[in-house]
This record gives sequence, structure tokens and C-alpha cells, in this order.
Amino acid sequence: MTWQVRLIIAVIFLGSVCGQVSYSVPEEMPKGSLVGNIVQDLGLDIKRLKSGNAHVYTGDGTEYIELNKERGVLHIKERIDREVLCGETSPCALHFQIILENPIEYYGITVEIMDINDNAPRFKTTEMRFDVIESSLPGARFVLEKAMDPDVGVNGLQGYSLKPTDNFNLKLHSLPDGTKNVEMVLQKPLDREKQDELSLTLTAMDGGDPQMSGTVQIRITVLDANDNAPICVQTVYKASIMENSPGGTILTTVSASDTDEGSNAKVTYSISNSAEVVAELFQVDPDNGEVKLIGNVDYERAKRFEIDVQARDSVGHSDSCKVIVDVIDTNDNKPVINIMSKSKLISEDSKEGTVVAIINIQDADSGTNGQVNCVMNENIPFTIKSTSINVFSIVSDHVLDRETHSQFNISVTCSDEGVPSLSSSVTLTVQVSDVNDNAPAFENSSYEVHIKENNSPGLSIFSVKARDADWNQNARVSYILEEGTVNGASVSSYVSVNSDSGVIHAVRSFDYEQIKDFQFRVKAQDGGSPPLCSNVTVKILILDQNDNAPQILYPVLSGGSVVAEIVPRSADVGYLVTKVVAVDVDSGQNAWLSYKLLKSTDRALFEMGLQNGEIRTLRQVTDKDAVKQRLTVVVEDNGQPSRSATVNVNVAVADSFPEVLSEFTDFTQDKVYNDNLTFYLVLALAVVSFLFIVSIIAILSVKCYRWRREQLFYKSNGNLPVIPYYPPLYADVDGTGTLQHVYNYDMCRTTDSRKSDMKYVRPCSQSIISLDACGTQTLPHVQQKGANEVSENQVRLVLNHSIIYADLHTY
Ligand SMILES: *[C@@H]1O[C@H](CO)[C@@H](O)[C@H](O)[C@H]1NC(C)=O
Ligand SMILES: *[C@@H]1O[C@H](CO)[C@@H](O)[C@H](O)[C@H]1NC(C)=O
Repeated sequence: MTWQVRLIIAVIFLGSVCGQVSYSVPEEMPKGSLVGNIVQDLGLDIKRLKSGNAHVYTGDGTEYIELNKERGVLHIKERIDREVLCGETSPCALHFQIILENPIEYYGITVEIMDINDNAPRFKTTEMRFDVIESSLPGARFVLEKAMDPDVGVNGLQGYSLKPTDNFNLKLHSLPDGTKNVEMVLQKPLDREKQDELSLTLTAMDGGDPQMSGTVQIRITVLDANDNAPICVQTVYKASIMENSPGGTILTTVSASDTDEGSNAKVTYSISNSAEVVAELFQVDPDNGEVKLIGNVDYERAKRFEIDVQARDSVGHSDSCKVIVDVIDTNDNKPVINIMSKSKLISEDSKEGTVVAIINIQDADSGTNGQVNCVMNENIPFTIKSTSINVFSIVSDHVLDRETHSQFNISVTCSDEGVPSLSSSVTLTVQVSDVNDNAPAFENSSYEVHIKENNSPGLSIFSVKARDADWNQNARVSYILEEGTVNGASVSSYVSVNSDSGVIHAVRSFDYEQIKDFQFRVKAQDGGSPPLCSNVTVKILILDQNDNAPQILYPVLSGGSVVAEIVPRSADVGYLVTKVVAVDVDSGQNAWLSYKLLKSTDRALFEMGLQNGEIRTLRQVTDKDAVKQRLTVVVEDNGQPSRSATVNVNVAVADSFPEVLSEFTDFTQDKVYNDNLTFYLVLALAVVSFLFIVSIIAILSVKCYRWRREQLFYKSNGNLPVIPYYPPLYADVDGTGTLQHVYNYDMCRTTDSRKSDMKYVRPCSQSIISLDACGTQTLPHVQQKGANEVSENQVRLVLNHSIIYADLHTY
């Protein structure tokens, strides 16, 4: 640094002032530094100085400048600090006088103190602190502390600089008093998240040479503003859960970070799905982001959930992330069996492979849990086949036979392959429908029936029975008498068969003496289409009844002649008088005859051979014995009750014929008597017969009259059709009439009373002769009562279209 001394000489002439001089010195000159040569400048003699005792007068006593009298110069006595001396005042000068005595003179001296740059700008503090919120807007101003520089002028404070200037700029703001405010203006927004503290240096500079400066640190703490949204750590979270997991199961934890701090960084989690179902099933912990199950997840309803979780800070900045929850299937669903189609009936002649049902299986589970297999109960002729995915058909795999199994319970069990496996089952009942595959079968391979002769016609002899293993109509057996001949006559004139019941009726009264047995075939036919039939042989054996009295062949009861056996008086004991010969057309016991002597003129004379009918003498004939002997012989058979015949045997005990004749005249009287008796009997019979015919004609006339009246009545009514009714099976009757007979009989019993009247009458009208139709009604009565109770002159009328017959039995 160069010291420049500038000397300013100013001579001011004042009254009392001898002279005036000015100097200028920089401040801070060392002690003894020359200020100025006053001797020279004031034009004084150096001696005068000594003699005048020159001295410096300052007034206040502070002497910065001293006078060197020997040399006549001013020196710096004390270090001068302009800043202390003048502060900010400028220019700064020291005013003092040099006073001389003898004579008194004084000279004014002004020493201007020149400023040197001896002070750097200085701040009061070393550090300034600011808290600036990061959200402050550009333009925000912060007043800074000013720096102080005691120097003046160019050496004084000249300016400031701020570094770095990334965010802030300096701005000097002039105040009315001429000073300047230093302000820091936010230029670029702060971001706490990038830099939460800034350190700036403010430099204050003066204009001296060399320039001096002072600095202060500005520390800016950037305060957080909630300017950052939370950000999810992952945008997608994946989780899986078994279906039916208990509530409270934690799926995952979502988290979001917020670069703000403190409460601004506090994140709250919530589910933001609009679908209610998600909110019902899941919950997210607002504080820690734990996602947990609160409901029941069912794989079958939803396999996947997407949960939108919103992370949100206190002012509503938010982010969202997705939680994808895959539901894992568990085997919680039974297979469901749906019967798509089934037939309740399967015909027994169906082919193998006939489908009886199609079922559809559904298992809501997936994978192996939903894979279903079906099995069926065993030992039934059906099998289950998988026809397509989840469709099974049940088909027959054997030939069916309704007669052994008419119904099958097919139980199908379907189970899935889950662990543990679930199953369900269903039972189908299939009926096997009948096919006419069984012919009726008679209980016996043949029948042998005994019937007593003299049965009443219409008597039910016996019934055949055939069973048909089929069902219903196919098992409905009708019995048909097969055509045949017995002794040259149609078998139907012997027996008839009730087509429904198989009861065999005798059509006529059998006579053992005419026919001892006969056989015929009965056919059983079922109602199937086509019908099946079988036949059986029925052999009827007629049992003999004791219905014939013994007939005496000898002695012959001839008209007028009297036959007498002649026994010579000389006959010995045991003489065979005669032999009564009798026959009985019955057989067996009924024809086993025994002979007894019923009456005898002389019991002691004759005896009767019980078995052989021989009449022999018991003793010697004597003369006392009458010529005319009369024996009454009874011939009895052995039937129950037995029948008998009597015969009178005339025996003449004589040696000559005239003797015999004279004795036997009373026999002729007997004959006359007998002839008369015969005549009366014939007459009586004729009368009875006549009366009978008359009464029949009378009855029929009355009936026909009534019938005609009824015909008229029905015609006028006009609403009851008179249509003959024939069951279809019997329509083609071959003219024997047997079946129609039976049919008529049935109809009488089954139709109701009002209609039956009419229907009874109808056949009458078609008959050649009109007969009392109600006679038919007596038939069952007769049959039930039996032959023994039938009254006398019972008339049996059997009606049909072509044949009418009447039997008259007289007992
Ligand atoms: C089938 O089931 C029904 C009812 O459970 C039962 O009455 C019938 O006897 C069963 N049939 C067979 C053939 O098992
Ligand atoms: C009766 O049945 C036998 C077999 O039992 C059969 O051979 C015969 O032809 C049948 N007769 C009639 C007339 O149907």
C-alpha cells in the first residue's frame, strides 16, 4: 500500500489568525509519521518556533498530532482511526491551532483524515436460520441481516452476493433513508423431499482496494408440506386363499410410502371397490394395510377377487393398488345328479343296451374335486355308461324277464375325486313291463274226475285251473272246450266250460249204463296278442248209481198166461224147483243181486238160494201139501239204497197137468185185475201230460203278451238300444251252444234288474218257440240245490238262438 501525502495549503487570512494550513493524512499512520512542515508552509522561522514556545492546541485535550519544534514539522502522535474519530461522517478532519507566544500568534491547522479500507464488511451473526415451508411460492421474501462496514465511501459496504442461487435470489430494497434492505427472494420452489436443508452463503463486499468482504451462513430448513401422495410399494399384490377359510385369515399386507414426513406421511388404507361383494368379504386394516378375510369365500361363486386398496394421506393424496386374490378350490360340493330323462317302464323283451335313464352329473368344484365317477348297485341287469362329459346313461345289459324280476331299484352313486371324496346317490325304480311270453299252464298235466251218474244237467263237475305267469291281460286266461266227439256226438253236448272260471259243467245227465267215461281237451288261452295257449286232457269217469232195479228175466211175467213150475210129489229134498234169473244193468255192488223168499204158502217147503236164485225143496213133498204153491221172490241189489224187484213164482205140486189147471183159475182173476190197473195208470199219465202241456202254453202266452207290451214300451221310449251283447271271444261259437248257454246264464246274473228284464226277453223272441225266459233263472238254483232237491216236473229250459231242449224228469 502506498501512502500518498497530499498537502493542501490554504492560507486564509483572518484578523487574528496569522495563517491557516490544511493537511491531509490517511488514517492509521504509524506514530511519528510526518503530517506536514508548518514552518515551511506557514513561512515561519524555525527560531520563532522555539522562542514563541509553539504548541498545539486542540481544545479537548486529545492530541493525535504533535509538533516538532526543532524541525518545524507535525508528526502523528497517536494512531488515528477515522472510524473512531468520525464514524460515518465524511470528510473527517482534525482541527487544532498552533499557538505562539511572544507575540501571540496562532495558526489554524486542519488535518483531514483520509479513510483507508481497514474494515471488512461484517455481519453481526455468523449464521442466519430460516424455516421455510416447501410449499412457499416463488416470490416469497425473507429479510436478511445487513452487514456493517465502518469504512466510508468506496471502502464502505458496496454490495452482497448469495451463493448458491438455485432457489433464492438476492434483492436489495432501497429504503427511503437511503439504506438498503437485503432480501432473499424465493425463485424456485423448494422440495423438502429433495433437500430438506439448504445452506447459503451471503457475502457482503466493500469497494476498497483490496476489496474486503464478510460472509454469513444462511441455513434454511425446509419444512414439510403435504405435497406428496402416498405411493404403493407394489401396484399389484397377489394372494391366494382356500375357499371356506375362516374369517380373520390374513391374505397379505399392502403398504404405501409417503415421502412427506410426520403426520403428512401418515397413510390410511381402505378398500375402494365399488362392488359391494368385495367390501363384504375383505377388510383392510387402515393403519397397517393388512388385508384380511371377513366373509366366506366360495370358489364356486367367484374364483378371483380384485381388491382395490386406496392409500391416502391426511389431505387426500392417494394412490391405489390391487390385491388379486385367487380362491383355491376345496372339495366342498357334492356331485349333483340330475335325471335328464328316464323311463319308468322297460319291456321285458327289450334288447340289451336299451337306455332306461340318462343322468347328468354336476359338481361345482373344479379340477379333481369336480371329477365324478358313477357306479351302480350290482346284481341287476343294468350298467352305467358315460356317454359324454358328465352325462351317463343307464342301459340294460342282460335279457330281462318280468316273471322273475318285475322291478329293479337302480341306485346310482356318484363320487368325486376330491380328498375326502364327496358323493351322492339316487335310486331309480324301473318296472319291467309284461310281454306275453308265457303260455297258461295247467296245474295238472291231466285231470281225472269222477261224477255220479244221473247228475242234474248244468251241474258243475269240476274246475280246471291254468296259471299264466304274465301280467294282467296277458295273464287273463280263458278256457275253451276243444271240439271233439264222444260216442259220435259233439263233446259240447256233454260238457261245457266256463270260459272265465274254468268250471266244467255237465250239459246233460250222464248215464253210467250208457257211457262210463269220456275225455276231452280244455284249452287255456291268455289275453295277449297274439294269445298263447295250452291244453289239458280231462277224463270224466262216471260213477255208477244204483238207479236200476233188478230185472227179472225168468219167470217171465207174460200177459194172460200163468206159468207154474211143476214139482212132482216124488221130488226129493233139494229138488231144484226153478231158478229166478234177474239182471241189474248197474254195475258192481249195485248189480250184485241177492234173492230172498218173501212170501210162501208153505215156508218149510222151499228155500231160496241167496246168490243164485235157485228155489229148491226143503223137505220131502207130501200129499198134504197143496197143489198150488205161491212164492213171492224179491230180488235185491246191493246198492245204497238197494233196489228190488219181486216176482211171483207159482209152483204146482202135482203129478198131472189137469190137476194143475183146476187149481190155477184164480191166477187169471189176478190177471184181469192187473190189466185194469195198467189201464188206469195209462189214463192217469195221459191226463197229467195233457194238463202239463196246457199249462205251459198258458204260461208262454202270458209271457209273450207281456214281452210284446214291453217291446212297445221300449220302442216308444226309444232310448234303450236293444243290441245283443256278445263278448268278443265267444262270437264265433260253432253252433254247439255250450258257451252261449253259459253266457246267457251269466248275463242273467250280472245285469241290473231293470235292463235284465228286457235282455232276458230278447232271446225268447228269437227262438222258434217262445218260452219262459225266466226258466233260465232256475238253472243256477237247480244246480246249487242239487239233483235230490229238484221238485217234481221241474222244467229246465236252456235258451239260445238255435237250440232249446227240455228235460222232464219224473221221480
Ligand atoms: C325297491 O324299493 C322299494 C322302495 O324302497 C321297495 O319297496 C322295493 O321292494 C324295492 N324293490 C326291489 C326289487 O328291491
Ligand atoms: C295240446 O297240447 C299238446 C302239447 O301239450 C300239443 O302237442 C297239441 O297240439 C295241443 N293240441 C291242440 C289241439 O292244441
